[in-house]
Amino acid sequence: MTPDQHPDSILIVDFGSQVTQLIARRVREAGVYCEIASFTQAEAAFARMQPKGVILSGSPASVPSEGSPRAPEELFEAGVPILGICYGQQVMSHQLGGEVRPGHETGDGGEFGRAFLTVTEPCALFDGLWQVGERHQVWMSHGDKVTRFAPGFRIVATSDGAPFAVIADEDRRFYGTQFHPEVAHTPDGAKLIANFVHRVCGLAGDWTMAAYRDTKIREIREQVGNGRVICGLSGGVDSSVAAILIHEAIGDQLTCVFVDHGLLRLNERAQVESLFRDHYNIPLVVVDAEERFMRGLAGVTDPEAKRKFIGGEFIAVFEEEAAKLGGAEFLAQGTLYPDVIESVSFTGGPSVTIKSHHNVGGLPERMNMALVEPLRELFKDEVRVLGRELGLNDQFVGRHPFPGPGLAIRIPGEVTKERCDVLRKADAIYLEEIRAAGLYDAIWQAFAVLLPVKTVGVMGDGRTYDNVCALRAVTSVDGMTADIYPFDAGFLSRVATRIINEVQGINRVVYDYTSKPPGTIEWE
Ligand code: XMP
Repeated sequence: MTPDQHPDSILIVDFGSQVTQLIARRVREAGVYCEIASFTQAEAAFARMQPKGVILSGSPASVPSEGSPRAPEELFEAGVPILGICYGQQVMSHQLGGEVRPGHETGDGGEFGRAFLTVTEPCALFDGLWQVGERHQVWMSHGDKVTRFAPGFRIVATSDGAPFAVIADEDRRFYGTQFHPEVAHTPDGAKLIANFVHRVCGLAGDWTMAAYRDTKIREIREQVGNGRVICGLSGGVDSSVAAILIHEAIGDQLTCVFVDHGLLRLNERAQVESLFRDHYNIPLVVVDAEERFMRGLAGVTDPEAKRKFIGGEFIAVFEEEAAKLGGAEFLAQGTLYPDVIESVSFTGGPSVTIKSHHNVGGLPERMNMALVEPLRELFKDEVRVLGRELGLNDQFVGRHPFPGPGLAIRIPGEVTKERCDVLRKADAIYLEEIRAAGLYDAIWQAFAVLLPVKTVGVMGDGRTYDNVCALRAVTSVDGMTADIYPFDAGFLSRVATRIINEVQGINRVVYDYTSKPPGTIEWE
């Protein structure tokens, strides 16, 4: 077995659905390791992983359309259980000899949103959960549908819009659901997926973070040997958890480098120093690079130019520090699973760059270092569990994400030290109030933005002419989409009053009411 092979795993074949990652989360919540592979890579992934079961995802594509994606035929001949979800059900039906017709031909436009199905026959997926004759809420999102199922299958649940809401071939252990069990709007969906991986695939559900930690420690030791590892800390959860895990594996062969680019939040540098030096005793180099970053940012107002400069300068500072340390063979990064999943493009063209993300990309090639990325297989919430496993407290592991370019992308227009200082104060007050109201953990990310706009106000008997501060707070599962957090007016006016009274340079506060899409979470 190769080091990254798990004996009990599930392969999820991605046809480009927006919610494929949710399937993976549900499988992992059931205590089973899984990986997502694009349908173009599925055959290789299957051979490498030798999974005990396969799940076929949904898709924006249409099975009857020419060129739409197919599952590798080998999967259907391998003797492992398969669960097809939505498009996955349709493509499996089509490939095994059934029929799928587009919505415009069946004349009923499909089903979108909440629907109810009726269980018509027992099925292993429903064991201990759904009984014959019961009605259950599910989430549908399909235009096409299966109109004739493949030989060997039978119908085990129906809905008004999808006569084949669930189909099963218990001999081959192939199942298909027209609805999406992976989304929260299918209340029993997680249990159906757990039934598939436990009862149908026979997996024990014993994949835990404690086991993951031990495996990774062993792997890191094997990979690194006596080599030296250098890790760029951002102060965020991911790089910190990666560093602490690596330190547990190889001790002082690891050195962390924390670049203070002057774009950090209030007290952030002190917190990182104290955590790493005092609490974990991990060798830490802190580079004071504020002046250098501010000089380079002078006069830069274009968001992409800011991002590019910060990313490039970060690499330069990091390289200099690594050289001072006498070099290292390995670079550690807190790369997460969502960053490594290959996105599926049906047009074959590159996807549009909305923002150039800054996360030390480009460093390994330039510095000729091998990567150590112990979190590559994890989702954000799993990293938090691992962090707790490593002794990090809840307050630290539960911190909101903070972008690599820091406050620079929360200061539209020119970034100066003065503007950073003003924003830091406003941001700290906002977060303090959010914590005091007990709302911090209910919010994915909350922060203040300093606008390059001055407005007139009146304070005491005098006229003011000062900056506008915008407050942003969103809920999200993975940062890909987001909803605004609906604070009550009393909370917002309390925060606004405090910011205007306590922060010199701000005389007006507004709340950002934009979801993502159409907005992005950060302002630049
Ligand atoms: P957007 O603004 O694209 O942000 O909706 C989505 C999530 O990503 C974070 N973000 C970044 N994280 N480097 C990072 O490490 C970056 O350059 C970067 N830009 C945005 C953002 O804070 C949000 O959580």
